[in-house]
Amino acid sequence: MYNQSMLKADSLKGKTIVVTGGGTGLGRSMSQYFLTLGANVVITSRKLDVIEKTAAELSAATNGNCFAVACDVRIYEQVENMLQATISKFGQVDILLNNAAGNFISPTERLSHRAFDTVVDIVLKGSYNCTLAFGKYWIANKIPANVLSIVTTYAWTGSGYVVPSACGKAGVLALTRSLAVEWGKYGIRLNAIAPGPFPTEGAWSRLMPPDMKDDFDIAKRNAIGRVGEHQELANLAAYLISDYAAYITGEVVVIDGGEWIKGAGEFNMLDKVPVKLWDMMEMLRKG
Ligand code: HXC
Ligand code: NAP
Repeated sequence: MYNQSMLKADSLKGKTIVVTGGGTGLGRSMSQYFLTLGANVVITSRKLDVIEKTAAELSAATNGNCFAVACDVRIYEQVENMLQATISKFGQVDILLNNAAGNFISPTERLSHRAFDTVVDIVLKGSYNCTLAFGKYWIANKIPANVLSIVTTYAWTGSGYVVPSACGKAGVLALTRSLAVEWGKYGIRLNAIAPGPFPTEGAWSRLMPPDMKDDFDIAKRNAIGRVGEHQELANLAAYLISDYAAYITGEVVVIDGGEWIKGAGEFNMLDKVPVKLWDMMEMLRKG
């Protein structure tokens, strides 16, 4: 069921959506679903060859309009050019999906300050550059619009070994909640999704120490006992950017199979108590 399309066909018809980091991974999967729902989609990232190939494949697979524009989201002028290229192509843009990210694992004291900048600049600066440029355009042109940002659950818990990413994602969450209030009067909604583990080449290749992959069974770390499927994330994203979610703003929706609360709950380790021991404790309690 969760592998299937959730929204009615044409739910995003007439909308133009920009997906940063749309050439690969989750950005690609969400873009594909938006296209099947009738949207025009612009995918953008640094690697033009990658996004052009993806745009051609997604257009062919969905019979939709997918257009590639190269843009490094860290550079404001490139973001403005990408916005103008989108408007030239489709006449208007209605939705921004801040999905581009950079990340790697490292003890923090081993990082150079440039390494820290690199991740924070992609995640936080990239998101506020895009949100600011698009917001100015929407407000000036009185276009009702919305922004969806992909964060992580460690945006609020923090996490060792991915500290620049945690700092960046926490900033994106603050941006989302702050502007949801400030820009509500302009008809602009801002929401976020915090995914748990969804297999992608980009994340999986960078976030696991090479020889220890088998030591971490990620599926077992959450309550549901599996990793996420791209379609279920795409379903949630499509809903949040659609007009069905018109009354939702400033929200962050967690889709992680209960991973972060499993880690947080004081007594969740009692999962390991065998049934026989529970039986014995019950007998003792009842005398
Ligand atoms: C320590 C590192 C490093 C590493 C790079 N650096 N990789 N430091 N550990 N693994 C340092 C470099 O030495 C350099 O510092 C500085 O960072 C910039 O490195 P560049 O390679 O020049 O940067 P750039 O080419 O811009 O590449 C950016 C990148 C790369 C972030 C390093 O990994 C990338 O392009 N990532 C994009 C895709 C991505 O990361 N996807 C995963 C998202 S997953 P010095 O001092 O030497 O100059 C995600 C999931 C989270 O966010 C939650 C999962 C559950
Ligand atoms: P991914 O495939 O590596 O996607 C990251 C994308 O960001 C790439 O397409 C990359 O393209 C683009 N990007 C990086 N730097 C950029 C820059 N400066 N300007 C423009 N684009 C840039 O990884 P993913 O797993 O799909 O991640 C997608 C989003 O989900 C990220 O926000 C990530 O933090 C989030 N997330 C993922 C998971 C997971 O389990 N997969 C969990 C939680 C959150 P270029 O290299 O061509 O620029």
